[in-house]
Amino acid sequence: MKLFKTKILGTGKYHPEKIITNEDISKMVETTNEWIIQRTGIKERRIADISKGETASGMSEHASRMALKNAELEPNDIDFILSSVTIADTLFPNMSSCLQAKLGITNKCGVLDVNSACTGWVSALTLANGLIQTGVYKKILLTGTEMASSFNNWEDRNTCILFGDGAGAVVLGRCEEEEKGSEIIDSIISCDGTKGESLIMRKGGSMYPITKEILEKREQFMEMDGPVVFKSAVKTMSSHALTLLKRNNMTIDDVDWYIPHQANLRIIETTGQLLKCPPEKVIVNVENYANTSSASIPVALNEAIEEGKVKRGQVLLFTAFGSGLTSAATLLRY
Ligand code: UT7
Repeated sequence: MKLFKTKILGTGKYHPEKIITNEDISKMVETTNEWIIQRTGIKERRIADISKGETASGMSEHASRMALKNAELEPNDIDFILSSVTIADTLFPNMSSCLQAKLGITNKCGVLDVNSACTGWVSALTLANGLIQTGVYKKILLTGTEMASSFNNWEDRNTCILFGDGAGAVVLGRCEEEEKGSEIIDSIISCDGTKGESLIMRKGGSMYPITKEILEKREQFMEMDGPVVFKSAVKTMSSHALTLLKRNNMTIDDVDWYIPHQANLRIIETTGQLLKCPPEKVIVNVENYANTSSASIPVALNEAIEEGKVKRGQVLLFTAFGSGLTSAATLLRY
């Protein structure tokens, strides 16, 4: 069977206008700007305003239009939409259906949502690659969107300092034979389901539908055991990266840019050290946006391309982790 190579044809991003600084958060919970910067590297985050259309699908639409423009394609050129989103506008229909309508796609293309929290976009990239490689689809819109402010407990200092809202998108297509350059080289998706309790939104699902009592006790938000997630993140991201490099006879010297999930600067730095990756090859923007979950890597990729850092033909390494506890990594030639 002939396998096609996958190329990132265009990238896009969107962040809400409203900025919440660490100082702002220190007026809501017992914390300080210094503590947040020292433990996370985060300085500010963006928060969506629904009255301005900044819903999950609204942010995703902006990012998708930018990715389409950069790919020099029209919405109806897309033949499949894959959206990574933890909590979409509605529990159903899924966000991709909504996005199809918002983009004005009339070709009735197939759609699918992926929920693997912060890991979702990198995991979905592996699925999209399979669909392009095998010739099932020719142009896939792959988005990573998160409106964490809707499930962030603004009274819990363990979590509320960490997250922000935003969306990233890429359009994937075939790398034509004469181009030779771009391809997804290899990828890994993993999960340790025994650690699921360490980052969980327990209430509001089918087992515990929202009740007055849940709302009164403010149990409708995420709960996190930060140190457990931290250790698992460093371990899985570094081991997946090393596995990918080893099984493709590459070393970190062959990687031009390392783009890890933007959750915490200390996680990024520790993982980079374990990989022996020079800090100047690591893309970091967590200080500006905090953790935007599955939007973080496509956003960082878009910014690195727009800033002229990432160039065609270069080797990129993505690593992500999140609730599950899930983890994923991809090695590709841009
Ligand atoms: O995409 C996946 C999303 N999740 C993550 O990436 C989370 C990964 N984990 C982390 O980033 C870190 O564990 C945190 C930033 C959440 C916490 O940092 P830490 O260095 O692991 O702190 P800790 O939880 O061990 O807490 C240390 C101390 C505690 O006080 P005591 O018990 O030593 O007196 C906390 O109560 O810091 C306290 N603390 C705070 N103090 C000021 C916890 N949160 C805050 C806060 N401000 N916001």
